Amino acid sequence: MIVALGSDHAGFSQKEEIKAYLLEKGFEVIDAGPRSASRVDYPDYAEKVAHYIRDSSADFGVLLCGTGIGMAIAANKLRSIRAANVINTEFAALARKHNDANVVCLSARYVTLATNEEIVDIFLSTDFEGARHSMRLDKIAALE
Ligand code: RB5
Repeated sequence: MIVALGSDHAGFSQKEEIKAYLLEKGFEVIDAGPRSASRVDYPDYAEKVAHYIRDSSADFGVLLCGTGIGMAIAANKLRSIRAANVINTEFAALARKHNDANVVCLSARYVTLATNEEIVDIFLSTDFEGARHSMRLDKIAALE
């Protein structure tokens, strides 16, 4: 499985940690940047990661900023992206089971690294349940 990672300056440190964590677990990782903790604008990295998902270079995306909110707002502007701002493990499972989210947006300022690693584990290992949820996703796609 290939995971595309991106952040802004607020999420940079946890992005580096999560990158190492995923590599250690055997995932293939595309690091969309940034390369340092210098101030950057989160929409630029949301766009990069979203493009990796859209062109099928990556299966899932992980984005980190201060809250995860800005990343989710930005990534969801791109067609076929379903980005979920997730702050606990229950939401991680539901974002996959019910929403077939393909990008998880994490808060590096309000959620610990340990919890975010757990969120990523659950997000990447939980399947979409389909059935009634598929019809709802079709309706979301029709809005694009
Ligand atoms: C940067 O200060 C902060 O606004 C950003 O990381 C993020 O939380 C936006 O949603």
